[in-house]
Amino acid sequence: MIVLDRKKEDLVELFSEEAIQKRIAEIAKQINADYPSDEPMCVICVLKGAVLFACDLIKHIDKETHFEFIKLESYGNSQSSSGEVKSVSMALPNLNSKNVLVVEDIVDTGLTAKFLLDYIQMHFQPKMLKLVALLNKKCARVHDIKVDYYGFEIDNKFVVGYGLDYMGYYRNLPYIGYFPQ
Ligand code: IMP
Repeated sequence: MIVLDRKKEDLVELFSEEAIQKRIAEIAKQINADYPSDEPMCVICVLKGAVLFACDLIKHIDKETHFEFIKLESYGNSQSSSGEVKSVSMALPNLNSKNVLVVEDIVDTGLTAKFLLDYIQMHFQPKMLKLVALLNKKCARVHDIKVDYYGFEIDNKFVVGYGLDYMGYYRNLPYIGYFPQ
């Protein structure tokens, strides 16, 4: 059995459930305005971290929407990027001429987002391709990547909750927090 060295009680809340949900509605409004109103969208959720965010976000999307899932790994069981992206499951439909939105939980170094956007552009010719992330850790950026929409900018803290994990735990929290040093 894994003994977690971090306890939920020690978490400091950074973004409440209400703040997250309010911001998601605002981002969705922007997305709805930017994507063509009479054309379908393909929303790609990057598992596992973006699952809660993507599920809440698509409820606000007002177009015909395909919801796809891929699974990438770059952190393993640590609190920093391994510097390598592992594509665990990359089953995507044909994205040629599609209006595509990639949904990430957090853009940290930018490696994962870059890997995925490059992959899509290498294999398909989407009509539109944009990236939305709930959190943007701009200060940790290593790879130059355009985050078209994001919920909140954060400093270089390791955060958990609302899909984000520590050792596989805490994804189920409806809020986002961090463990003080
Ligand atoms: P990047 O490739 O360095 O941008 O990191 C992307 C992935 O690392 C995210 O999709 C998360 O799954 C994970 N990650 C980055 N920062 C954090 C964090 O603060 N908490 C939990 N997971 C994180």
